[in-house]
Amino acid sequence: MNEIIRAPKGVPDYAQNDGVEFLAIRNLLESEITSAGYQYIELPIYEDTNLYVRGVGESTDVVSKEMFTFNDRGDRSITLRPEGTAGVMRAVIEHGLDRGQLPVKLWYAGPFFRAERPQAGRYRQLQQIGIEAIGAEDPALDAEVIAIAYKGYKNVGLQNFTLKLTSLGCSVCRPPYRLKLQEFLSNLKLDEATQNRAKINPLRVLDDKREEVQNQLESAPLQVDHLCKECEDHYSEVRKFLKMHNVQWVEAPRMVRGLDYYTRTTFEFDHPLLGAQSGIGGGGRYDGLMAQLGGQNLSGIGFGLGVDRTLLAARAEGLDIGDKSVADVYLIPLGEAAKELAVTTISSLRDSAIRADMAFGDRGLKGAMKAADKLAAKTVVVIGDGELESQKFSIKRMADGKTIESSIADLSSNIKKLIEEK
Ligand code: HAM
Repeated sequence: MNEIIRAPKGVPDYAQNDGVEFLAIRNLLESEITSAGYQYIELPIYEDTNLYVRGVGESTDVVSKEMFTFNDRGDRSITLRPEGTAGVMRAVIEHGLDRGQLPVKLWYAGPFFRAERPQAGRYRQLQQIGIEAIGAEDPALDAEVIAIAYKGYKNVGLQNFTLKLTSLGCSVCRPPYRLKLQEFLSNLKLDEATQNRAKINPLRVLDDKREEVQNQLESAPLQVDHLCKECEDHYSEVRKFLKMHNVQWVEAPRMVRGLDYYTRTTFEFDHPLLGAQSGIGGGGRYDGLMAQLGGQNLSGIGFGLGVDRTLLAARAEGLDIGDKSVADVYLIPLGEAAKELAVTTISSLRDSAIRADMAFGDRGLKGAMKAADKLAAKTVVVIGDGELESQKFSIKRMADGKTIESSIADLSSNIKKLIEEK
């Protein structure tokens, strides 16, 4: 026998019940997004490598260590998308989507790729659903974006997540704060690698998980205490509007995001039952990104929600997710004439919005009933010689065995009745 081929390392499959749950989670998150006026955008899975180098930031882990980058046959460097914001911005600039009504509100979903060390909840192909709202600096928009994610998780049924919120300042107040932080860090006892990090990206040091580092950071200056007047006003307005959306959050002044483009309002959703990979979603403003990528100087804000991790969180909370039943009715034909009737019948049942399936492969009654069970069919109709002769068909509800008799003509209404009665 030939050796089997496995999926690449760190790349999950979602099959059968896992597939049902995955799709249900994504749909629940999506319904919040589409109820708020966001339009779907389908984006390329790979882009010019420069898009991420310039857009996400060369010194980030994502760009410096985690990208799947290779040369195409024309020797151009391309990269499997590690995140969605840069690609959306590229499309907005390239197609002039920012020349009409503002803000442009877009959503997307699909796989992203990061060459991280795989572990529970950390994959090399990860799935996100995200939104980007471009071209309005209005704090009410920040609150809307955050509220959509918050309500999306509530829609899924999650109870235990935390929204962490802060402001990272802007091109006016960040540089002087950064200097202040660097000065503070230069007086600490840090190893060489951390000292180097403090020079390149001092904010990242605030996020260092090691106790000996954290102990020294207690009196570190924080960006929220060094915001300019505009950023401070913006942040207090965001909080005001968040209250109107009934969103609860905790202030997280030491939060650091893994991507360089963030400015002002920044947030993350954490789930305490997920261990080390607790971030189920995150986002924020990126007011300099469009100009950085050669477009006009418009602001933007958005989020990316991790569908894989949201599913893990839902499971950790013991939620029953998605309808595992594949069919409303499963027809079991016994014999050639019965099979012809079954094929005609599933076709017309499907036309009347009943999810109908049948036993293929001329299997016997026992095997077919087992299949109906596996598919969690809600009802079963057996078609044998007796039924063909009498033209009376029994619809059996699988949950409790209740049976009703029906003609073929009334099959669809009787199936609906039996399902809805439960
Ligand atoms: P991010 O925080 O890098 O943000 O990713 C968003 C979410 O994707 C994370 O919170 C996490 O749930 C999920 N995720 C990331 N990496 C992995 C992984 N290796 N395995 C499983 N799940 C993962 C962004 O990507 C930004 N583009 C979000 C954004 C949109 N900001 C503004 N607009």
